[in-house]
Amino acid sequence: MAHQILQGKKGIIFGALDERSIAWKTAIAAVEAGAQIVLTNAPIALRMGKINELSKLCNDAPVIPADATSMEDLEKLFTQSMEALGGKVDFVLHSIGMSPNVRKNIDYTNTNYDNFHKTLDISAMSLHRVLQTAMKLDALNEWASVIALSYIAAQRAFPGYNDMADAKALLESITRSFGYQYGFAKKVRVNTVSQSPTITTAGSGVSGFDSFFHYADKMSPLGNATSEDCASYCISLFSDYTRMVTMQNLFHDGGFSFTGVSHLVIEEINKLAAESANS
Ligand SMILES: NC(=O)c1ccc[n+]([C@@H]2O[C@H](COP(=O)([O-])OP(=O)(O)OC[C@H]3O[C@@H](n4cnc5c(N)ncnc54)[C@H](O)[C@@H]3O)[C@@H](O)[C@H]2O)c1
Repeated sequence: MAHQILQGKKGIIFGALDERSIAWKTAIAAVEAGAQIVLTNAPIALRMGKINELSKLCNDAPVIPADATSMEDLEKLFTQSMEALGGKVDFVLHSIGMSPNVRKNIDYTNTNYDNFHKTLDISAMSLHRVLQTAMKLDALNEWASVIALSYIAAQRAFPGYNDMADAKALLESITRSFGYQYGFAKKVRVNTVSQSPTITTAGSGVSGFDSFFHYADKMSPLGNATSEDCASYCISLFSDYTRMVTMQNLFHDGGFSFTGVSHLVIEEINKLAAESANS
């Protein structure tokens, strides 16, 4: 049985599409840690996904639809969540990402700007919308913890990541800017977790995903962090053990972000060089 470090806490989990989703694992881990949760996703994802299955695994957690780009939906979500949970919210997971340019294989230098706007709205501005709605409704308890998931393409160039890189940079910036405001106003903390490449619907949509999944695994002293590892890290960040952490981008990547090159990658390059010299 998991440590009950979220006993008595109430949370909202965005973005559980199927059992591979990071949000799916986090929802289960939160309930195992003693929390009471509400599950939410875009209406279309609720129709296509398996969220009712997840709800059953989470003590019949209520499922409330919300498109994270709609202020009306978000207002309903927070209002109904407080009713269902019987009080204000202690933690929120923003696990939302989508780029129409990535989906349609439109490369970065030929971007479609309507798509680009959608990428930024869904994957980054939605965090601002969530925080603004929560603040207006005074829906979060003091010391509540809000986490959004990010990727290292916010800091370094990963060509296949396309406009999602810009969205993640904006997401991390909103985390700092709103984290400052919400910290002073209500002691609410806001952080991003920058996760290793993970095999999920959103992850595998990125071009060349398999290659950079294996590259990251070989580069990271601890290997790639799995979605279960990510869920555990999020639970620690929702808990009171991390109550003074805010406005941070926290790398959860097995050491990838601070490794220049690994001996495993060098071995691969040497192998390729030897093969091409012999051919
Ligand atoms: N998979 C990876 O390699 C990886 C690595 C680092 C960070 N992340 C981030 O983790 C988060 C979760 O992604 P995942 O990998 O679990 O994939 P996923 O596809 O399971 O989750 C993405 C979720 O975003 C939701 N979503 C899309 N548009 C929405 C909208 N308008 N309103 C509300 N929800 C919407 C989808 O329905 C889906 O549930 C994303 O922010 C992603 O960028 C993923």
